[in-house]
Amino acid sequence: MHELKILITGAQIAARIVDMGREITRDSAGEPVIFVGVLKGAAIFLADLVRAVQLDTTFEFIGVSSYGNRAVADQRLGWDSTGEVRVTKDVDQSLRGKNVILVEDILDTGLTLTFLKRLLLGHQPKSLRVATLLDKPSRRKLTIEADYVGFAIPDEFVVGYGLDYAERYRNLPDICVLSGVEG
Ligand code: IMP
Ligand code: MG
Repeated sequence: MHELKILITGAQIAARIVDMGREITRDSAGEPVIFVGVLKGAAIFLADLVRAVQLDTTFEFIGVSSYGNRAVADQRLGWDSTGEVRVTKDVDQSLRGKNVILVEDILDTGLTLTFLKRLLLGHQPKSLRVATLLDKPSRRKLTIEADYVGFAIPDEFVVGYGLDYAERYRNLPDICVLSGVEG
């Protein structure tokens, strides 16, 4: 049986996103912004974040998958990206000359965001920033920091508010630590 323990409540998330929205609004100085959410984990965060900014805004989604992660996640309820990231859905509009904010659910080893930053920089945006709801700095393999971080968390496997374990638990309103996986 999986055991779920609340780490961050939905109310705490909502309050933090209001602050993040204000920061992004302030930093953007009235310029339009395109948010690019990473499917599927960031979908719920993006939906709340875009409603917390007061800017001329559009949003896009990009899909990525990393090879070989599922087996690792099953074994130790953890996550070890292999470093091989593949785009499964590209953005629908040109990002050239635009102010782009890449929106992720969690920054872990940094492999996914490093790959995505490089990919989006190829579009030659005017600016590229990163917003992540969660950050596990202790797990970093590549040097990368987000411009906007919701919460720094310890090295625990978390689910809820968009984050999954084998596609489950994305709909939980709170961020929960998951433990006790069955075979
Ligand atoms: P990175 O490439 O190692 O930084 O991994 C980022 C991706 O790994 C995130 O977009 C998540 O999909 C996944 N991930 C990392 N840690 C967790 C976790 O604790 N719970 C659920 N997914 C996670
Ligand atoms: Mg993800």
